[in-house]
Amino acid sequence: MNNRKGKSIILASSKGGVGKTILTMNLAGIYFELGKKVLLIDMDINKGTIALNLNVKGSNTIFTLTEDLLNNRFDKLSNYVIKFNDNIDIIQAPKDPRDSLKIDSRTFESIITMAKNNYDIVLIDTPCGFDKNNIILMDEADVILYVMTNDFMDIKNTKSFMSIIKETNLENVKLVLNNSRDLNLNYFSNFDIRNIIKKNIDYTISESFYIKNITKYILEGEILILNKNLTFKDKRDYKKLVNMAKELINE
Ligand SMILES: Nc1ncnc2c1ncn2[C@@H]1O[C@H](COP(=O)(O)OP(=O)(O)OP(=O)(O)O)[C@@H](O)[C@H]1O
Ligand SMILES: [Mg+2]
Repeated sequence: MNNRKGKSIILASSKGGVGKTILTMNLAGIYFELGKKVLLIDMDINKGTIALNLNVKGSNTIFTLTEDLLNNRFDKLSNYVIKFNDNIDIIQAPKDPRDSLKIDSRTFESIITMAKNNYDIVLIDTPCGFDKNNIILMDEADVILYVMTNDFMDIKNTKSFMSIIKETNLENVKLVLNNSRDLNLNYFSNFDIRNIIKKNIDYTISESFYIKNITKYILEGEILILNKNLTFKDKRDYKKLVNMAKELINE
């Protein structure tokens, strides 16, 4: 073990479909381009879209990892990862939804510790909402990247989430307003959103990252940001995203 002391970043949201998974994969792409060794953990255990989106296959999952840890069958983390490329590995979600129910959250702390010892960046994708697994994982992660869109219900849910956060004083929460999810979502100004949720928006993902025929690209199993044919028009926005990625890991 080389004791890399990596950073863990968990993506979370109150509302579903805000663009967490796409952002998780794009962040993996950005960190890869920054020369980092990246592990993607798909904790959206009922749906598990990362391995599917990136077109990778393997037999082990987060479920077999937790099982083997608890039953002393675990040898090394590399047995449980699937390679996307030289520097991006994936721990996929269970294939059988029944296995999701058997995942034991007592193993999360040691999984994240091991992951941080072996990777520079550990990105954890989650389902929306705040169930027991998510709360434990958020507690373990170095950074919670809370993703929201400019949508009334989303802002309302975010307001509740932020008031809970204030009570628990989770200072490592960074709020991302995703304007690339849907070009028609622009009801409120950032000033209004701030006033409603009583927290600053830490980062905004520009609408220039909106991809019209995204399904076609997802079906090709690529990380969108690494696809050279996709020209993200505004270089400044791209730079902003890279800066966000760097700031999240204090670089
Ligand atoms: N940059 C983008 N350009 C165009 N459409 C996007 C973009 N990002 C997200 N979307 C749309 O939003 C959908 C949901 O995105 P994604 O799966 O990343 O959300 P999620 O927050 O992970 O959802 P869930 O809560 O269900 O896991 C995508 O299938 C796509 O249709
Ligand atoms: Mg998702």
